[in-house]
Amino acid sequence: MSERGGRPAARDDMERRRFGPIARDVAVIGQGTWEIESRDRDSVIAALRRGLDLGMTHIDTAELYGSGDAEEIVAEAIAGRRGEVSLVSKVLPQNASRSGTIAACAKSLARLKTDHLDCYLLHWRGRHPLRDTIAAFEQLQEEGKILSWGVSNFDVQDLEEAWKIAGEGRVACNQVLYHLLDRSIEHAVIPWCEAHGVAVVGYSPFGHGRFPGPETAGGRVLQQIASAHHATPRQVALRFLVRRPGLFTIPKASSPTHTADNAGAGTLRLADADLARIDEAFPLGRRPRGLSAL
Ligand SMILES: NC(=O)c1ccc[n+]([C@@H]2O[C@H](COP(=O)([O-])OP(=O)(O)OC[C@H]3O[C@@H](n4cnc5c(N)ncnc54)[C@H](OP(=O)(O)O)[C@@H]3O)[C@@H](O)[C@H]2O)c1
Repeated sequence: MSERGGRPAARDDMERRRFGPIARDVAVIGQGTWEIESRDRDSVIAALRRGLDLGMTHIDTAELYGSGDAEEIVAEAIAGRRGEVSLVSKVLPQNASRSGTIAACAKSLARLKTDHLDCYLLHWRGRHPLRDTIAAFEQLQEEGKILSWGVSNFDVQDLEEAWKIAGEGRVACNQVLYHLLDRSIEHAVIPWCEAHGVAVVGYSPFGHGRFPGPETAGGRVLQQIASAHHATPRQVALRFLVRRPGLFTIPKASSPTHTADNAGAGTLRLADADLARIDEAFPLGRRPRGLSAL
């Protein structure tokens, strides 16, 4: 049953949980920033701030997004509130040599107007040896410029390689595609991460604009469950995506109304029967050959 019916939470109501090996707990429902630079700037900044007010303090950005413009918008949104935020950015694979990663991080920190990131990720694997990227991450962490580091779009073989290089307890998270119409990571990536204490941050939780509408069978199931909890279908979907203890999600919204809707998932509780209905309406499907790099 839902505790607050999926209503937008107050800041302290947002569920927070252990984020991989990191001591500080992180909000289960965070905020994405891909393509925010293409939307109305005032609305986006108001949306991010509303999210912070409602406890969505995990903000995900990247040097890729708007070629750095998204990081600058995030800086404006979190000005004066840096201490509240678990701030995550990502290095592009083409920049992820040892010296390139150090340089890219310095540029992200400058755009974000902060002296440290809470977590710094390799956006996806590229041509630079993983060992070099990890050496740079470890150096940045020793220097206090990042508090932790992780990876993104890593399949199990990549995770194994990172684990062999860095050792247990070093990879904070793996940020991967995860929404109701693509549950591929449930086959092997989530189990591997759970076994190794790595947080799984699901991106594009609404399928990057492919959210099941009310005219679909799955959409009707979401609506029925939402109605029973005085919640919305998107809140139900987000809660399903964080139903296991190591899972986090980072929906992107460009308006405070959308952000507040998404924040409501942070207090929603679904019954096992609800989870089973969603599982049936959006079947896992067969195991794919590998994760696509996105
Ligand atoms: N590591 C990676 O390779 C990777 C790849 C993709 C994404 N990401 C991260 O994950 C974040 C989220 O993924 P995403 O941006 O692809 O898409 P998403 O979160 O799945 O969907 C965003 C879309 O949903 C809409 N939306 C959000 N909340 C809504 C609500 N309550 N009601 C109605 N519509 C709503 C947004 O509209 P409005 O904008 O109009 O509010 C936008 O069109 C990204 O922003 C990025 O930070 C990471």
